[in-house]
Amino acid sequence: MIGIFDSGVGGLSLLRELDHSLPEADFLYLSDSACFPYGTRPPEWIKDRAAAITRVLTGRGCSLVVAACNTATVAAIEHLRKKFPVPFVGIVPPVKPAAATSPEKPLAVLMTENTAEGSKYTDLVKTYAGDSVVAEVRLPLLAEVVEELGFTDPVQAERVVAEVRSRLGKSRSGWRLVLGCTHYVFLRPLLERGLGPEVEVLDPCSAVAAQVVRVCESRGITVIEGGARRYLTTGDPERFAWQVSELLGVQRPQVEKVELA
Ligand code: DGL
Repeated sequence: MIGIFDSGVGGLSLLRELDHSLPEADFLYLSDSACFPYGTRPPEWIKDRAAAITRVLTGRGCSLVVAACNTATVAAIEHLRKKFPVPFVGIVPPVKPAAATSPEKPLAVLMTENTAEGSKYTDLVKTYAGDSVVAEVRLPLLAEVVEELGFTDPVQAERVVAEVRSRLGKSRSGWRLVLGCTHYVFLRPLLERGLGPEVEVLDPCSAVAAQVVRVCESRGITVIEGGARRYLTTGDPERFAWQVSELLGVQRPQVEKVELA
């Protein structure tokens, strides 16, 4: 079984991708809804929290843990790798592939405060983006709009697009917009429609799903199971079940409340 976690619903965007790549694997998703958002929490706190989450996931039999959260990956993945024997796969803004494919195109990276401040992200830019122009766009309330499913309301949706558009500025033609938070992946169709063809939107979900498949192969992790999808939340299970069914189109998802030590 593969464990996957996020501060909330963002990681469901990666689970949706993994659903296609590993349909017969069992997945256990943990949403730390009680502590959402992670974006502005102290990195030390995120490290401890991610370790507590990993204990739950491995305690329930997960043999691989996916940190489906850029913020948690940047703050905690090295710590988790040192602390636990299971393999981890994380997610970071796809600056490397974006810069490699079109170095001449400027990048705008949409992400949380913590991701932007983390050395994992700044190293990524230094190492791979070289001379590309990289603009950081931090919109602290954006993940909240996804969490509340507010983007399904046309008025809020237009506000999101207007905010991103204004951050990119008038000279946005030819820019590539990198989604550096798993929550924002659910906004991708909206952003693509709203920003038009002059801005290309990129997210790392398919590349991360491919990495999960590679790690399963190299570590001999069983991916032919019953194809179960189960959910844990530190918040309200009924609310999380509603979010899962709205975002993934799953009927009556199995959600259990969990307390973290
Ligand atoms: N989904 C998380 C990420 O990918 C962030 C949301 C939050 O601030 O908790 O960074």
